[in-house]
Amino acid sequence: MEFVTFQSENQIGLLTINRPEALNALNSQVISELSELMTEIAAADIRCLIITGTGEKAFVAGADIGEMKELSADGAAAFSKAGNAVMDQVEALPMPVIAAVNGYALGGGCELALACDIRIASANAVFALPEVSLGIMPGYGGVQRLNRMVGLAKAKELAFTTNRIKAEEAKVLGLVNHVVRQADLMDTCIKMAGKIAENAPFAVRAVKQVANASAGVNDTHGLEIQVFADCFDTEDQYNAMTAFIEKRKPEAFTGKAKE
Ligand code: CAA
Repeated sequence: MEFVTFQSENQIGLLTINRPEALNALNSQVISELSELMTEIAAADIRCLIITGTGEKAFVAGADIGEMKELSADGAAAFSKAGNAVMDQVEALPMPVIAAVNGYALGGGCELALACDIRIASANAVFALPEVSLGIMPGYGGVQRLNRMVGLAKAKELAFTTNRIKAEEAKVLGLVNHVVRQADLMDTCIKMAGKIAENAPFAVRAVKQVANASAGVNDTHGLEIQVFADCFDTEDQYNAMTAFIEKRKPEAFTGKAKE
């Protein structure tokens, strides 16, 4: 695999998204590699999985804007469907999953962290759903999971405003379990994974199953994929994504359909 690495020791798995030149952004290849690996990990003899991103700047800076820029609505539906499926695979892994959030967790990166069971963040971590500033909406289940985690009003505020929140604020909201110094992040995650791994694995998996069932499942993927795709029929999506690539501000948003 080109962009994802997996190793395990003492029944603790470590999955690293390794695309630092794009701040670990999720393009179709990363999503496809993650999907393949999730199938493998689901059957692996590990008792806890840690997911992180390479480097000290970003966990994952979102879905790949360069790739999304040129997508048609049909292409966007497929893009959202594939990403949503991976987030569901992460959430449904039988063993607990800890997100070691080592920097920016934006858009799809925040959505990946939300699909994990526990989030431990370094003090420099930043969370946001910036999608509406790019003319689209979160397309990897983020609004639904954020709603379940921090409540509907705060989830709406974060998605409507695109406000960035730092690790400590994310902890107050209940989005992050613990905040630690960046230098201590992996040790803290490994220590928690070790504590989980000491417990009876069948029983831990049973807890995860019931906890997930009690939280409800994402049952509106059909709607999310449809409205995500619809955004790609607007001028705003192309305007905003082109501006990001060209490192400038987008033109004022109009809400108009593409010609
Ligand atoms: N997609 C593609 N490339 C990305 C990226 C992304 N999401 N985020 C960062 N990159 C690339 C940049 O284009 C840049 O590449 P070049 O060096 O080739 O120019 C490189 O990573 C480094 O990024 P910056 O130069 O921008 O670094 P910075 O320190 O100035 O800013 C940042 C860091 C604030 C994270 C900024 O990169 C940023 O805002 N990134 C985009 C975040 C975002 O909007 N994510 C949501 C995407 S939409 C989504 O995820 C949809 C969905 O739900 C499915």
